[in-house]
Amino acid sequence: MDIFRIEGPVQLYGSVTVNGSKNSSLPIMAASILAAGKTTISGVPNLSDIRVCAELLSQLGCLVQREENGDLSIDATVVDNPVGDYEIVRRMRASICILGPLVARCGRAQISMPGGCAIGVRPVDIHLRGLSELGAHIRLENGYIVAEAPNGLRGKEIFLGGPFGSTVLGTGNVMMAATLAKGKTVIESAACEPEVADLANFLNEMGAKISGIGSPRLVIEGVKELHPVNYTVIPDRIEAGTFMCAAAITSGELQIRNCRLDCLMAVVDKLRNIGVTVEPSGDGCIVSRTGPLLATDIITQPYPGFPTDLQAQFMTLLALADGNSIIVDKVFPDRFMHVAELNRMAANLRKEGPAVLISGVKKLMGAPVMASDLRASAALVVAALAAEGTTIVNRVYHIDRGYEKIEQRLNPLGAKIYRENEHVKTVPAVLAANPE
Ligand code: EPU
Repeated sequence: MDIFRIEGPVQLYGSVTVNGSKNSSLPIMAASILAAGKTTISGVPNLSDIRVCAELLSQLGCLVQREENGDLSIDATVVDNPVGDYEIVRRMRASICILGPLVARCGRAQISMPGGCAIGVRPVDIHLRGLSELGAHIRLENGYIVAEAPNGLRGKEIFLGGPFGSTVLGTGNVMMAATLAKGKTVIESAACEPEVADLANFLNEMGAKISGIGSPRLVIEGVKELHPVNYTVIPDRIEAGTFMCAAAITSGELQIRNCRLDCLMAVVDKLRNIGVTVEPSGDGCIVSRTGPLLATDIITQPYPGFPTDLQAQFMTLLALADGNSIIVDKVFPDRFMHVAELNRMAANLRKEGPAVLISGVKKLMGAPVMASDLRASAALVVAALAAEGTTIVNRVYHIDRGYEKIEQRLNPLGAKIYRENEHVKTVPAVLAANPE
């Protein structure tokens, strides 16, 4: 298993380009099965989650291929095995977003029920409620969700809100299924995330009739069939936000290219509040910091609120801010596995129920730490850039799920991130003297 050895502190300077969005690419790949024929998607990052999704589509019967120019092509002429195996779903929960398109295309789907994960329990009840409102018969059988609609789906007015607000993949699932349903579907309390809008735009290019894109009320007029298309996914706003945090924590200056600031308003607002400069520039922005980091409070919310996927990375900034801050995660109230790890790096964080109280410290110190999930591991890398000494980040496979070759992209900017195998890792002298 790979680890990162990260030497700090460093300052980052230069230019970095944001990749296409992982969380747009996954449902768009799933949606490609709605049209027989070959769809080509540009900008799909080369990540382990994308490879798992490609494996899932291949099992269904599709031919999936990375073209020489980097585009991903999905030939969905044949979809004859509508099953999502446990072995695949347990590696990537987002596999659930194949459920809606599969029922719509094949009239039947059998998908392993996703379990919880490091960021919480993560139920799929709203996905299932939405699809059954469209007329699918749903049952749970030996750990698998079986959804059947042999005579097709019917449009309906559906309220899709839940205890934590809207659901991103739940909205995607119901919207994808509704494109081929008979009649009109209205989704109230739809997720407004840019990735949901990207999926809706993709579906409309395929011939779907979706209006209200980007709003909490989506109206979908069912059509008889969709056709394959060529499409480019939007830039990854979470990767962009992570690079912004890296520039800010290292008192550096980064030009972040291929970054849509209009999708990052809440994030940019918080950065400016805590003393970070963000200036629009070209197809992105320049992020820099010269003064101290200031304390603030953050509450994560569905879009356009502050994203839960940047909560951990911002915690590292506030750990070094002058004064006390509070972070509350209202989307995933248990998404705080990074708190104990950041404390091992000399942060002063205290979890109190659904909140984390942060007393700013003057500096962080390198330490061996454990990555628990994708964004928590990104936060550990960001923290390690500013920490004094050596940080060893274990279980780097988590970060490879969402950031393509992050060390190769940050090292030219001044980072010192070394990918090593855990069995041959270089243990810094101070750690060797005090083994865990
Ligand atoms: N929820 C329910 N019932 C459901 C579905 C969701 O109660 O049927 C709850 C969840 O437990 C959570 C809240 O609703 O408390 C929102 O979850 P949502 O369904 O929106 O999450 P998701 O669609 O499973 C996507 C992203 C996540 C991101 C969330 C929130 C993808 C592949 N995943 O997950 O991204 O955190 O939306 O924005 O798009 C990541 O990239 O690291 C990541 C975890």
